[in-house]
Amino acid sequence: MQLSQRITHITGGGSDGWDVFYKARRMIADGEAVIELTIGEHDIRTDPIILGAMDDSARGGHTGYAMVPGTQDLREAVAERIQERTVVPTTYKNILITPGGQAGLFASHVATCNAGDRALYIDPYYATYPGTIRGVGAEPVVVRTHAEDAFQPRAEDIAAEAAKGAASLLINSPNNPTGTVYSAETLEGIAAVCREHDLWLISDEVYDTQVWEGEHISPRSLQDMSERTLVVGSMSKSHAMTGSRVGWVCGPEAAIEHLVNLATHTTYGVAGFIQDAAVFALDQGPDLEEKIAEPFRRRRQIAREILAEQNTVGLIPAQGAMYLMLDVRATGLSGEDFANSLLDTHKIATMPGESFGTAAHGHVRVAMTVDDERFAKALKTLVDHAQTLAE
Ligand SMILES: Cc1ncc(COP(=O)(O)O)c(C=O)c1O
Repeated sequence: MQLSQRITHITGGGSDGWDVFYKARRMIADGEAVIELTIGEHDIRTDPIILGAMDDSARGGHTGYAMVPGTQDLREAVAERIQERTVVPTTYKNILITPGGQAGLFASHVATCNAGDRALYIDPYYATYPGTIRGVGAEPVVVRTHAEDAFQPRAEDIAAEAAKGAASLLINSPNNPTGTVYSAETLEGIAAVCREHDLWLISDEVYDTQVWEGEHISPRSLQDMSERTLVVGSMSKSHAMTGSRVGWVCGPEAAIEHLVNLATHTTYGVAGFIQDAAVFALDQGPDLEEKIAEPFRRRRQIAREILAEQNTVGLIPAQGAMYLMLDVRATGLSGEDFANSLLDTHKIATMPGESFGTAAHGHVRVAMTVDDERFAKALKTLVDHAQTLAE
């Protein structure tokens, strides 16, 4: 039996640049002591106080169907959080609760793209982006950024693609994989392109609590942008709740009404006890968010100190998120060859820049997700390895 093109084409075919990751996983399964600096998973688990709230809710009976758009309490808590950060009036009617940010990304593209529409996204990109766009039947169109711009997108490059016709533009700041936080100038440029070419802006802000330098600006707060922006958020990174699968889309009321219909016919909502735990977690305010972000802030500083002592490995500023993008071009190797050789020689697993598109070739992404001591040791070994290769 034939399956639909939509589902069989999600991955786009060919190598996805994740071979090093799978090799590391096989080595670990075979009992080898690999230091994994690959994916964006905290080295802590969900805080016991959040688990307590989840348990109380589940035992208190909140295990039946929950309201499809999200519970009133969680929609209100998310709206309040967004309003505080953007100063844009935001109510529960602007919020749909989703099973994680990924479901929000998918829903946002369903909401904004017709089959065959061009949907723009920025390279380097979070691995699921092109598949998400193909999954809704739209055509993924990449806009490249450049290491020499610290991977800040250029408005003129986006405008050039938008001019050929496009329905949406997907951006992500703080950025995975580059650690770049988009500047006010970058975001103003992007907003101007969206207004001029009548694009929906899908703004993936799942790392909004992990900002080490500069300021996170949500484009929803820019002039005339709240009516054409869908913000995707999540509890995964901010509250170490990756497995709970709870996130949201924030957008114009009319768009959210339709997104609720989509949720009714796809996910049918998010477990009530998970949503209650999310309300509890948000009620803890910024202190808990800072506590969860703190290890990454610390490790970024450790990395800066190690990297300051040498010139072989370059660091893209790493202004936010839990990753470092390291330039290893001085070794003469591609990111993939470097990552393979580091894994084979020292059992340290990193992600080749090539796993995230073409713009970060000759780079590797390091997730700051092991304890400080092992992290520092791994980074020093990485630098030594690069220096040996560069000699
Ligand atoms: C940029 C980005 N967006 C979205 C997600 C999805 O997060 P979740 O579905 O866990 O909320 C991730 C996860 O790593 C991510 O890095």
